[in-house]
Amino acid sequence: MRTVILNPDKNGIEEAAKLLKKGGVVAIPTETVYGLAADALNKKAVKNIFRAKGRPSDNPLIIHTYSLEAAKALVKRIPDKAKKLADKFWPGPLTMIMEKSDIVPKETSAGLDSIAIRVPDCKAALELMRYSGLFLAAPSANISGKPSPTSAEHVINDMYGKVDGILKGEDCKVGIESTIISLLDDKVTLLRPGRITVEQLQEEVGTVIIDKAVEFKPDSTEKVLSPGMKYKHYSPDAKVILVKADKDKYINFVNSFKNSDEKILSLCYEEEKEHINVNKLILGKSNDYEQMSKNLFAMLRKADDLKASTVYVHSPLAKGVGLALYNRLIRAAGFEVIDLEE
Ligand code: TXA
Ligand code: MG
Repeated sequence: MRTVILNPDKNGIEEAAKLLKKGGVVAIPTETVYGLAADALNKKAVKNIFRAKGRPSDNPLIIHTYSLEAAKALVKRIPDKAKKLADKFWPGPLTMIMEKSDIVPKETSAGLDSIAIRVPDCKAALELMRYSGLFLAAPSANISGKPSPTSAEHVINDMYGKVDGILKGEDCKVGIESTIISLLDDKVTLLRPGRITVEQLQEEVGTVIIDKAVEFKPDSTEKVLSPGMKYKHYSPDAKVILVKADKDKYINFVNSFKNSDEKILSLCYEEEKEHINVNKLILGKSNDYEQMSKNLFAMLRKADDLKASTVYVHSPLAKGVGLALYNRLIRAAGFEVIDLEE
């Protein structure tokens, strides 16, 4: 398939709009990760997204739009808490799940009666939606199961030849996918943590329930609220193992692989790098969760470029934005954790 690479200028936006109106699939930048967009109300177009990504058809898509006002057409009603959160956090990395209206085809919601909606904080994406007048269904623009793309180069690596267009923007400033909450039953339930933290949500709406699947391996017999949470995810080809330890214990642990025949890689904190004598990549400073979020997926992709066999990641604390990093990493690791703190 021919893939056109477009710049996020007037011409590029017009061309992307044309492709999308014809039912095409176009990768677009957002502030979180790149998305693989198609007309959310066009069944055939949406099916092409699933095909390009190799995504299971029971995993619903997020619909992107440019304002709360525009989002009204997609839902039965906007709960008061959703209004409050939209006022505070949209445009931005917060996705809200509400009861869907009849205009949304079941292909987009993967058969569910609810729909996930977000207004991204990205000029090119907003311009494209305003100009085209389309609601854009868009999952992350990676091959299903792989780390999400945070640069145009990542998208080209995964999607060139599989989609109609790639709108090239800047590197994503957040770097991890949006926080997802459900507002069904008027409760606020966190399904996927992100840059907008539980604490920030609580400040606006009070109690926030944290779904078990955020931190723990879903039980295969239980119903998972967010279908995407049941899949192994965000994984490079290299095996990822998460290591819970303080600084010294982590350093000693990875250094014990110094003479290993395997291609071991340490994904560590800035403060540790000079003490580590196996191959290493730096996630960021140990207290700078925003920088770590921005780097995470690029580093997992780099591990494959370096042909690492096993990556030992120093686990961030599962608090604040760290909860989002932890959530992605335990999935990248297929829930394999070494706990040296016990
Ligand atoms: O930041 C983001 O959210 C990025 C950018 C492109 O906006 N998008 C993204 O989409 O991460 P995706 O498809 O990779 O992840 C969406 C997650 C999936 O785990 C899916 O199962 C869940 O949202 N989801 C979507 N609709 C849902 C619904 N109605 N109920 C429960 N979970 C839903
Ligand atoms: Mg994804």
